[in-house]
Amino acid sequence: ALTPEKEGRPELGEVEGILLSQATCNEWQRIQSFQARPDDLLICTYPKAGTTWIQEIVDMIQQDGDLEKCKRAPVHRRHPFIEWARPPQPSGVEQAEAMPSPRTLKTHLPVKLLPPSFWEQQCKFLYVARNAKDCMVSYYHFQRMSKVVPDPGPWHEYFEVFMAGKVGWGPWHDHVKGWWKAKDTHCVLFLFYEDMKKDLKREIQKVARFLGKNLDQELLEKIVYHTSFDVMKDNPMANRAGVPLSIMDQSISPFMRKGTVGDWKNHFTVAQNERFDEDYEEKMAGTNLTFFLLP
Ligand code: A3P
Repeated sequence: ALTPEKEGRPELGEVEGILLSQATCNEWQRIQSFQARPDDLLICTYPKAGTTWIQEIVDMIQQDGDLEKCKRAPVHRRHPFIEWARPPQPSGVEQAEAMPSPRTLKTHLPVKLLPPSFWEQQCKFLYVARNAKDCMVSYYHFQRMSKVVPDPGPWHEYFEVFMAGKVGWGPWHDHVKGWWKAKDTHCVLFLFYEDMKKDLKREIQKVARFLGKNLDQELLEKIVYHTSFDVMKDNPMANRAGVPLSIMDQSISPFMRKGTVGDWKNHFTVAQNERFDEDYEEKMAGTNLTFFLLP
């Protein structure tokens, strides 16, 4: 446990050098031996990369745009989060085991920690990547308001912690690089948050094709509308409205916070930006993975 406990915030544990919640670490054997099924779809993201957004899109496609069906439960309950553990509530593994096929599941795990049965069963993986700087900013605000993750401290401290990869689910760089490589050998649809902001319709069509669905124009427009930031921000089944104050204090920072590309510019100092870019170049050397940040 490397992170100081503050105000009753939980500590993180560690698996193979990756920080994870202590409760997840306690369940680790059961998570690793999780039995994937061949028709599972796994939504994979680094935290704050747009998980909720892609979950809502996938659900809308799978439910053929039926809004009532999409409102059957809050988005974070519709798709079991496999490494999630918060006893005495049923763990992510237990929720997934109880779910009939075909299942759509969620994970933030880096490739090296994914339960091996997902590879063995040749499941479909849907990865969303978001540029590192906006992920850092979004994660910072999330850690301020979520009571079940460590307190981020002041921005300048968090900046160092994130760069060192000492946050839940580990370094951003290894995460995106790992999944980017996995797409060469496995069935991975690799999407970018920035592309979704630029042309949501096109990205939704990619997802639909990946899921073997054909969307007519009307349905496509409906999904675009329903998964826009403003509509999701107002949707209690997407905006975490039902999450108790003891877990999230959205008066500190709303879960649906800004939903933009480039908010990092309002947070990074010039010196931080230079250091970040230098470090980034080193860590991302040798990959052809590129993020397009310009509008
Ligand atoms: P910000 O904090 O930058 O606003 P996750 O679901 O992985 O935790 O990611 C949350 C981030 O995705 C937040 O980013 C949130 O606002 C953003 N987000 C959620 N739904 C979105 C949408 N429909 N359009 C754009 N961004 C969205």
